[in-house]
Amino acid sequence: MMPVYQKAFIYIFVEIEYFFVFLQFIQSSKVSTNTLKNKVYIETYGCQMNLADSEIVASLLAKDSYTIEKDINQADFILINTCAIRDNAEQRIRKRLRELKALQRGRQWLKIGILGCMAERLKTQLMEEEDNVSFIVGPDAYRQLPQMLDHIKDDEKMAETLLSETETYDDIEPVRYDTNGITAYISIMRGCQNYCAYCVVPYTRGRERSRDPKTIVAEASNLVAKGYREVTLLGQNVNSYRWKNGESEIVGFPQLMAMVAEVSPLLRVRFATSHPKDLSDELLQVMAKYDNICKCIHLPVQSGSTRMLKLMNRHYTPEWYLDRIGAIRRYLPTCSITTDVIAGFCTETEEDHQATLDMFRKVRYDYAYMFKFSMRPNTYAAKHLQDDVPDEVKTRRLEEIIALQGQIALENNQKEIGNTYEVLIEGVSHRSDQQLFGRNSQNKVIVFERGDLQPGQYAKVKVLRCTSATLIGEVVGNK
Ligand code: SAH
Ligand code: SF4
Ligand code: F3S
Repeated sequence: MMPVYQKAFIYIFVEIEYFFVFLQFIQSSKVSTNTLKNKVYIETYGCQMNLADSEIVASLLAKDSYTIEKDINQADFILINTCAIRDNAEQRIRKRLRELKALQRGRQWLKIGILGCMAERLKTQLMEEEDNVSFIVGPDAYRQLPQMLDHIKDDEKMAETLLSETETYDDIEPVRYDTNGITAYISIMRGCQNYCAYCVVPYTRGRERSRDPKTIVAEASNLVAKGYREVTLLGQNVNSYRWKNGESEIVGFPQLMAMVAEVSPLLRVRFATSHPKDLSDELLQVMAKYDNICKCIHLPVQSGSTRMLKLMNRHYTPEWYLDRIGAIRRYLPTCSITTDVIAGFCTETEEDHQATLDMFRKVRYDYAYMFKFSMRPNTYAAKHLQDDVPDEVKTRRLEEIIALQGQIALENNQKEIGNTYEVLIEGVSHRSDQQLFGRNSQNKVIVFERGDLQPGQYAKVKVLRCTSATLIGEVVGNK
């Protein structure tokens, strides 16, 4: 488990924290005396898109007399915003639902609803299989939540999972109910239609649609006014961002990045995720032009093998991918590069696996999210391919990738020793309240002695030591 300050910037795995919340409940469970039934507790699993969606849900509910409750023991409704990307993500939710039965036994009136990608994938089937779930709401149906909560009666069950071609929630100002007050996500598009052979997202999130750039810029400006200093623009494939207003006005992702970067020089701008097939030189040029656009690109490779990439329907070859890496290095020499990879996709051979390890040696990623392939129902792979790599082989290949990446990340970090970076301070280190942590533009976590600095400020920090995950430094000046 990574330390708390090493907040993973793409996926959050929160089961440990929730386990503690659950223990707390066992110690202090009481029957609610609240008759209004308007307190909503939200638990979020999965990717940043889900986190951003939970903030939209909070906003929609707050407009309608519901309040967001931080203590699960006081809640009238528990909303679980779920992920379906791998089987273990779904199993985690099912386990959580079993745990919550104990909480429901102590409370006559407590309703549980499932939101997000697992709700969309399984629809009413989930309610049939999990008897303590009262309602199911897919990612494009959140506007109906307040009305649904109003109508949930003791034994009534409801489901709304229609996907939309237009919903972007662009008029909703998210309620940042669990925030450090410094960094925030802004969802700029929804859906994905790349149909990678292994991936469930096109089925759970629907077709791609982009949000009006004016509303994105307004949201960023509001955040700056409230003291936020960093935004991450979110989409499954941000390079496909394209807003069309009539025939004349077209805003693509590079233009949108420039518009958000212009909001304030104090505001850092990040984005996730870009698909290698359409990472354009134009975007890299915009990134080079603005100091406040962070020099960090997450470029999921998935595999280093030509054959696997074709079978995965990724629309690029290893050569194309390496050409894009070359372009990043040319335009943005200080840029960090991170990735996602899948070990043991259908028919993967030792040779394919070696090609992935080779890719890692060539690119030398700063960080990687590494996964074992998990067959997802209804995907191209489920319909047309065999999950034929034995589990122990997948595990061994994954371990080899993890070991190689650990070594590379350590060596990359060792090269940082002696460098000085501008760091946005995000909080107090969990190891000592005398230490702060923040990130540099490259998204690397740096820990340093507190002095009289505060979260939200920028500091110049010189790197003195490192591990494979963290840089340790000393403050050499303010911004
Ligand atoms: N839209 C993003 C990724 C979304 S899913 C992109 O294309 O980059 C995040 C990661 O989960 C993927 O990049 C992939 O590495 C992994 N993933 C997706 N489906 C998977 C599956 N069936 N088994 C294992 N890993 C998977
Ligand atoms: Fe899934 Fe591919 Fe879309 Fe990413 S680009 S969400 S991996 S289908
Ligand atoms: Fe995200 Fe998981 Fe859905 S990764 S888009 S919450 S399937």
